[in-house]
Parts: sequence; C-alpha cells; structure tokens
Amino acid sequence: MNDVDRQSWSRTNRPDLGAFWMPFTANRRFKADPRLFVGAKGMYYRTEDGREVMDAVAGLWCVNAGHGRPEVAEAVARQLETMDYAPSFQIGHPLAFDFAAELAGIAPAGLDRIFFVNSGSESVDTALKIALAYHKARGEGGRTRLIGRERGYHGVGFGGISVGGLVNNRRAFTLLPGADHIRHTLDLERNAFSRGLPAHGAELADDLERKVALHGADTIAAVIVEPVAGSAGVLPPPKGYLERLRAICDRHGILLIFDEVITGFGRTGQAFASQLFGVTPDIMTTAKGLTNAAFPMGAVFASRAVHDAIVDGPEQLIELFHGYTYSGHPAACAAGLAALDIYRREGLFTRAAQLSPVWEDALHGLKGTRHVIDLRNFGLMGAVELEPRAGAAGQRGYEAMLKALDEGVFLRFTGDTLAFSPPLIISEAEIGRLFETVRKVVEALD
Ligand SMILES: Cc1ncc(COP(=O)(O)O)c(C=O)c1O
Repeated sequence: MNDVDRQSWSRTNRPDLGAFWMPFTANRRFKADPRLFVGAKGMYYRTEDGREVMDAVAGLWCVNAGHGRPEVAEAVARQLETMDYAPSFQIGHPLAFDFAAELAGIAPAGLDRIFFVNSGSESVDTALKIALAYHKARGEGGRTRLIGRERGYHGVGFGGISVGGLVNNRRAFTLLPGADHIRHTLDLERNAFSRGLPAHGAELADDLERKVALHGADTIAAVIVEPVAGSAGVLPPPKGYLERLRAICDRHGILLIFDEVITGFGRTGQAFASQLFGVTPDIMTTAKGLTNAAFPMGAVFASRAVHDAIVDGPEQLIELFHGYTYSGHPAACAAGLAALDIYRREGLFTRAAQLSPVWEDALHGLKGTRHVIDLRNFGLMGAVELEPRAGAAGQRGYEAMLKALDEGVFLRFTGDTLAFSPPLIISEAEIGRLFETVRKVVEALD
C-alpha cells in the first residue's frame, strides 16, 4: 500500500472514536491523530494500514510470552465451553485450586497462599487490606499507616494512589489518611549510565527508619515498593537497598510488600524479582504476565504467617471480608495455567537473565547519542532518559514514541523517559534492530 492508499483504508475502516473515553491518554490529541493496532503475533503488532510493528513493551509490560499464543486461546475457549463462570464465594471450581497450587509451587519461599483478583490495582489494594487485617488479627490494630515510595506506581485504586508516588495520579483525588512515602532511588548525579544495579544509594532505605522515628513503628502496617520500579521509568534498586529495607521491616514488625506486577513472571531473569535478589517479602502482588495478558487477572501471594494470622478463629466465620465476583474466574485460571506451561516449557523465566548481557550492551550502546542523559537496565527492562526540551517537558518523549511507531517500533514513554520491556521471546537480532531504531529516532529529534 502506498501512503494515499493507507490513509483512505484507515479512514473507511476506522470505528467511531467518540464514545471510548481512553485511559491514561490525552483523548483529544489522540482522536485528532489516532493510531490503531488490529492484529498481533509473536513480537509484532499489525497496524490498521497493514504494517508490522515490533512490540518493545510487551503491550503494557504484560505479554511476556509474546502475542497470540494458541495454547492460551485454546485453553480459554475450552474452559468457556465447559463452564463459563462459577463464583468463588462459598463454592469452588477445580481450576482456581489447581492454578493456586501451581503458583504456590513457583512462588518465592513460603509465599504459598494465593488470593485471586482481576488486575494489578486490585492486587495492590488487596495486599494493603491484607496487611491491615493481619495486624488487626494479631491485636495490633493501631498499625494503620501504609508507606510507599516516591515515584512508585501501584495502580489506580485509592490504596494504590495513596502509597503511589507519581503526583499526576494523586492530585485530583482524596487519599487514604496516614499514607506516607520514603525517598525514591533515582540519583543521576551519582548513578547515571549504571549498568544493572546502581552502586550508590543503599542508605536510602534508612529513610524508613526516619518514618519509624516520626510516626512510631506501632502505627505502621506495611511498606510497599516495586523491586525494580517500572512505570516511573525503570529504576533498578541500588545494590543492597532491598536487603536493608527487609532488615528494617523485620526490626520493627512492619510487613514488606513487593509489587511485582511488572517484575513477576520472568521479567528480571527469575520467575520473580524477589528470588533474583534473594529478598523475600511478606506479601507480593502480581498481575500482567500471570495470564500472558490474554485474560485480566491478578494474584496476591501471602506468607503462611500472614495468611494463618487472619485465617484463624471460629471455623464458620468468614475471615477476610474481601473478594471480587471474578476472583479466580475459570477462564482466567485456564489462561494462567496455559501461560505457566509455556513459561516453563520455553524456559522463559530465566531467559531475561540469559539475554540481559546482550540487552545491556545494546542499550548502553546509545551512550553519547544526542539528548540522552541516562540509560538504565535490569533483566529485560530498559530506559533511555532524554533531556527535557526547555519549557516543554515530556514533548521529546512523545515525539520519540510517534517517530518510533513510524519506524516500526512500539515503545512506551513517561515524560521524557523511553521505556522498554519486550516479550521474553525477543531474539538477539531483534534487540540489535530495536536499539538501532531507537538511536535513529532519538538522533532525529529536535
Ligand atoms: C507495579 C505496578 N503495580 C500495579 C499496577 C496496576 O496494574 P493494573 O493496570 O493492571 O491495575 C501496575 C501497572 O502498570 C504496575 O506497574
């Protein structure tokens, strides 16, 4: 198709764009110049004008085994025909138990009690509620304070935005009382262009000690962090930071929650980042890669200690007044079991670790490129930070995304940071092509 054909094809086949109020999107700008994907297979999307575009973000950090896996589609179709839906309140169905047992088998040590939800945001709000219920059950109901970290992203529920640390997600809304934040770990002065974990900043974990000194440990229920912050632009933790946070939590009886919605299911080189770092939280949130994104689902992993403290008391009483109509949805469980099977069979949990040296070299090959002020990587996550244009922060990031799309690459931008987290099936040759395209795109920006 030439350009004129493409444009007329798009115009005639496009749906009416008015009704769909798009999430996290500048709606009017988008609808004035829309971009639509209409197909996806493996590493590539197909655009409405028939072009192939490399998916450099696994959709939204979620299609870890690549697009269009027939095993997942068939498992979902089979389950929908066998039994489309069954509730999980006071009745059960086998797949939810099977899937939970499988997840318990790959979970970080001891986190083998699984609560199903439908998204990352629900995973986070559920984890926060479990933390509060845990302390209450143990007679420490004064521990109501929830601590997050600046630049953290924990979804969009009221709990998640309260502990989240991105101002735009918070400013229009009422927040939970008592939520507080420790400092973020991004430090361009000391750590710019670090390969993998930055050397400086473990002491930033001590900020939690300041919160303890300020509020009293007996008011703090939990601390939640992403082991590698994703949405704020890929911020790997400084060496030793997570270990230090774990030690401070232990010292003060504070629960540690790892939000592994992005880092879970192979993104860092192990099934979960906590396994890679050797730091085990008390509660872990997941979603995204859980079903390879073919069906919306999340899962909260809790330790036996947390679970057993709550699931106690008279047998006939409901222990946790929490859950969703679709918790453990049969088709979601079928998708998740099929995805797990693929991850295991194709060795995808550890593939990021194998590819990571190639990924790191290719990404850091952009050092010296115009506008680039930092490069960060961990596992199969990467970020290219561009210098903001004077008086127009975020504009370079947006233009880079558009130009990259023209050049056949779908990337994600947050402000002036370009983020990358491809499906774990990416080849070494595709990694090379990806960052050569990024170089060309960035060089061409004003
Ligand atoms: C770390 C983290 N937590 C929670 C969420 C929210 O997930 P969802 O969009 O499925 O609600 C996200 C989404 O990007 C995330 O990155």
